[in-house]
Amino acid sequence: MKKFLKSLVEKNRGISELGNVANYIPGLEKSNKHALGLCIIKTNGTIYSIGDYDVKFTIQSVSKPITLMLAILDHGEEHVFSKVGMEPTGDAFNSIQKLETCKSHKPFNPMINAGAIATSALIKGADNQERFDRLLNFFRKISENETLEINNDVYLGEKRTGNKNRAMAYFMKGEGYIDGEAEDALEVYFKQCSIEVTAKDLTKIGLFLARGGVMSNGERVVSERIAKIAKTLMITCGMYDGSGEFALRVGIPSKSGVGGGIMSVVPGKMGIGVFSPALDEKGNPIAGEALLEDLSDELSLSIF
Ligand code: DON
Repeated sequence: MKKFLKSLVEKNRGISELGNVANYIPGLEKSNKHALGLCIIKTNGTIYSIGDYDVKFTIQSVSKPITLMLAILDHGEEHVFSKVGMEPTGDAFNSIQKLETCKSHKPFNPMINAGAIATSALIKGADNQERFDRLLNFFRKISENETLEINNDVYLGEKRTGNKNRAMAYFMKGEGYIDGEAEDALEVYFKQCSIEVTAKDLTKIGLFLARGGVMSNGERVVSERIAKIAKTLMITCGMYDGSGEFALRVGIPSKSGVGGGIMSVVPGKMGIGVFSPALDEKGNPIAGEALLEDLSDELSLSIF
């Protein structure tokens, strides 16, 4: 199996040539365009780690379903979905268009930037420090990695340059979808995006969801229902305006990030983590998507 997975990684590494690393957040341009890493952990504990699986990168949008789960734990499903919708947009991840043009002005889903900022605003805590500490501890728990930390340079870089996100946060504040201060929501959001992980950490989170919200020691952290919400939004919106095509090509609930990460969940079977920093024009890891397509075909992993 390991040899077979290695051949799939090597086959797809060259596809990175067709993409580009993100450079709109200072620091991300330093990634090695040709890196490709894969980690798989089955629910029986078998682990396969190939290529650049232990290279650190910032989690970026892969953080979104995780923050969503803690927001639901903090407030319940009904309240969270009164602030953010459940529908795909068909627009780019950072688009402001539907916020302004749709009548409700409610962010469409928690996987796009607008909806994720509204979700970050829901994390409970006396102040921003406590809010982010609770969130970081939740990431550490479900990745089973107590050492997770933020990359401070990437955090400060995004805080300095994230003006489109800032515009959306203030707009949503004006429409009543953010209860606290817009800047507080942004601080939690920028910090969560700059948490450093490896493909292996993402695999552990995928495995947690594959087990329906249960850690490998058997501890239940979120209900089946909350895990189902995260996985459903991943399959419908997790790859942004590429989600429909990805559902057909791969058919595995997945969430991408512009740092090059993809966290994938084969329910009941395995968690998969990919590191592939060269992105396609939609901001999804280009070689990682092709690798997951091969993996899905070869091992019949599509949920459809
Ligand atoms: O807000 C942003 O633009 C980034 N922190 C996260 C975007 C992202 O990862 C989109 N993913 N493909």
